[in-house]
Amino acid sequence: MSAPAPSPHIRELIATRRALLGGLAGLPLLNLADAAATTGAAAATAFTRVAATNADAVTLPPGYSFRVLAAWGDPLFEGMPAFDPDTLAREDQERRFGQNNDMIAFFPVGGSFPWPADSDRAILCVNHEYADPTLMFPALTAPDQFTETHARATLAAVGVAVVTIARESGHWRLVRDAAPASGFNRRITPFSPVVFSGPAANHRWIGAASAFVNAHERPAPHEQTHESAVFCGTAANCAGGQTPWGTYLSAEENFQSLFRASDSRAPALRAASEENAFVLDCANFGTPSYVPPPAWPAQFDMSQNPYGPALYGWTVEIDPYDPSWTPRKRTALGRRRAECASTVLSRNGRAVVYSGDDQIDEYLYKFVSRGRFDPADRTANREILDDGQLYAARFNEDGGGEWIALTLRAANAAARRQGYRAPFADAGDLVLRAREAARLLGATPMDRPEDVEALKNADWVGSGAVLVTCTNNREQGFAHPGKPARESATPNRAQSNLAGHILRLDEDGRDCGSRRFRWSIFAVCGDPAATETPVRTRDGAVALVSTRLDEQATITGDRFACPDNICVDRKGTVWIATDGSDALFADCNDSLLAAPASAEGAKPVKRFLVGPVGAEICGPTLAPDERALFVAIQHPGEGDVAGVSAFDLRWRQGRPPPSNFPDGGASWPRSAVVVITRDDGGEIGD
Ligand code: FEO
Ligand code: CA
Ligand code: CA
Repeated sequence: MSAPAPSPHIRELIATRRALLGGLAGLPLLNLADAAATTGAAAATAFTRVAATNADAVTLPPGYSFRVLAAWGDPLFEGMPAFDPDTLAREDQERRFGQNNDMIAFFPVGGSFPWPADSDRAILCVNHEYADPTLMFPALTAPDQFTETHARATLAAVGVAVVTIARESGHWRLVRDAAPASGFNRRITPFSPVVFSGPAANHRWIGAASAFVNAHERPAPHEQTHESAVFCGTAANCAGGQTPWGTYLSAEENFQSLFRASDSRAPALRAASEENAFVLDCANFGTPSYVPPPAWPAQFDMSQNPYGPALYGWTVEIDPYDPSWTPRKRTALGRRRAECASTVLSRNGRAVVYSGDDQIDEYLYKFVSRGRFDPADRTANREILDDGQLYAARFNEDGGGEWIALTLRAANAAARRQGYRAPFADAGDLVLRAREAARLLGATPMDRPEDVEALKNADWVGSGAVLVTCTNNREQGFAHPGKPARESATPNRAQSNLAGHILRLDEDGRDCGSRRFRWSIFAVCGDPAATETPVRTRDGAVALVSTRLDEQATITGDRFACPDNICVDRKGTVWIATDGSDALFADCNDSLLAAPASAEGAKPVKRFLVGPVGAEICGPTLAPDERALFVAIQHPGEGDVAGVSAFDLRWRQGRPPPSNFPDGGASWPRSAVVVITRDDGGEIGD
């Protein structure tokens, strides 16, 4: 079947834009003055920068301390036994904090809109992206000892944790509920009930997969059920967002890693493979992804449940204040490796949800609701994400861009024109296969868009300024000599963007509901001291790490690569978490850095936190008073300082994981959410 016409890649556009700008001093559109209007006057951070380190610790500036708020295995309820990972079963893990924490969101217990300026009690929603058996069961001596009990415990470590926290004497701590269903605390896992809503709710694939799952899963005694509940829960929860009406949006990213195919000739799989759209979907997402152990539950075996992957890749709305409300999969927001769901209001009160799709050469999206936010009607707000328009971004060479409406009519017209033999059956099919629609309609392929931060005022109205982290891309062989996205001494040989960059969009009319925007480069990540000469990464790849564009520095100060989660505080500081920076700059573990959002020209970047060995840094979130910063330390010990994986260390070399964070000594590493405060009680970063 014909491939859709390719659109220029964002790096080509960056290159062209550089050429158009020629000798202009500085870069356009770098002034975040309007951000200052909506986030407070920008001020330089006053903390002392942290030096690069490979310490197996959370390293902070002088005058700052951290505490572990919740770590993998911590009980959410009173009276539970001590955590023993070797006896961990699904039912036990469903009552404990999950593994590999990522996104964090803070909900004051007193309510959401208007959001209180301060709070001593809150509900944290935390994503658990995936679970790594290598880091879970210390007593195993070989991977083939993995049983179905291990498999189910592993899956139950994924999803979302909703936990109550309280501040006493200036310190935040986890509050356990007396028992399940007695308070806010709960886990939502890949076995929990969810409801599919929006245009794809009745999609044939979802119906078939739901029936299969529900035949294999039963509700747990404490779980609330809904008449349309599907017990596929949520999985691969990476970043997400909060809505102004006080719900949590959790984005399902690398769901393909859940799926295996035990028998490629199984009748169900063969029958599904007769359909062009199914084959394309498998190719798009890489399902089945790898071969999980044979004990893996049947619903994740595509030989038995070929449409299982259609149940994931969505954005899930969870109400932290109302545990009786079954989480909704908001299909109107589209299906992809959903990386985040950053929500603001348009000037006329519609909900605008931005999201990346973290796969090489995939797209940037936004959804605009048809209905409007009503501060007086939370129940109605809770449903407005079911109806609206999904868009994908097209970046133009002149620095402009547009949001392409992914409509059934336009997508099928493009499919016909391009000889695409898998037209979309209806609006639900379109959102389920949103990537294909975006590609057909000419969206711009990106360098793995991860987090999106739309700046907003206290009433959640977006200023129109939007930052987008593009974590990296391998692009060797990129054939645009003289127009590299990065300065390069060898333009035909090494055009890698392995260090990533941060884009800025300015929506027309400073309205996030607009169809057009301007775009610019906020930062080219890498080493401000580096030249255009490529460097070898820890993995042996060739990377360009110059942070200059048009002979102008985009950043100064501390080097970093692979930006992932970001947040912007009231003072206008952008907090940038990295995932994989250590592959390029091996002398420093993944970090959290600060840069002023409103600085013109080169931004001074300052390292604030360095994580333990093998961990990525996720979910930076400030308490409303900005006197506490919550950070997720994900997968400490997943690899050592030299880049050797825990899998190789453990199963091939017989060595333990290379981190003992957070418990120290010879303990097994655990992912953890830490809370950082200033010893004098002041605001973070001041
Ligand atoms: Fe889960 Fe793309 O980070
Ligand atoms: Ca991420
Ligand atoms: Ca990541």
